[in-house]
Amino acid sequence: MTTARGRFITLEGGEGTGKSTQVRRLCAALEIRGIAQTMTREPGGSPGAEDIRRLLVDGEPGRWTPLAETLLLFAARSDHIAHTIEPALAAGRWVVCDRFTDSTYAYQGMARGLARETIRRIEAVAVGKFTPDLTLILDLPTDQGLARAAARGPAESRFEKFDNGFHESLRQAFLDIARRHPERCVVIDASGSAEEVAGRVWAAVAARFRIT
Ligand code: TMP
Repeated sequence: MTTARGRFITLEGGEGTGKSTQVRRLCAALEIRGIAQTMTREPGGSPGAEDIRRLLVDGEPGRWTPLAETLLLFAARSDHIAHTIEPALAAGRWVVCDRFTDSTYAYQGMARGLARETIRRIEAVAVGKFTPDLTLILDLPTDQGLARAAARGPAESRFEKFDNGFHESLRQAFLDIARRHPERCVVIDASGSAEEVAGRVWAAVAARFRIT
């Protein structure tokens, strides 16, 4: 008997939208229903990609050009797919990933100005046609997201240090991605308590995969 392939779900959104909390809650909700799952994140998710993550998140905001940053991100992603995501899906596990390629289009593309076509060409080489089965875009007004991120303590990532305009472009970039890919993306209102947002996330997952 062949094992049914798992589903690949990604969560996306700007800083402070609560993605990491929702990734954990979604994994718990799948577990309760007897669905084996792997929780992972980008940049990172495999030993090699975690090494590359440190190069990306440490240091000054302008450390990398958008192109160099994008090449590093796709090097990490290629390793992550080969060593973590693909083996899990092939074994029938569902994979819930905190950020994926949409983050590169939003951060390096729209917010940092690298041409979409450049990203598309790198993506074609590094990732091919591999895309999520479902992408949940957590959406929150920029000031609320930054306030939540600030409440976590000093900026932990190089990307949180960019200015407000950067974060507003990011929000618009994710909403634009959702408009371009309505078959894959669902925008989730990320305001309110973690509990309320988790309810919206689960409703979207259950509807997409017809889980009762
Ligand atoms: P995190 O804060 O969600 O852990 O992500 C780390 C940082 O990496 C975050 O500020 C967003 C950034 N990032 C990109 O700029 N491009 C990407 O493709 C990914 C996956 C993350």
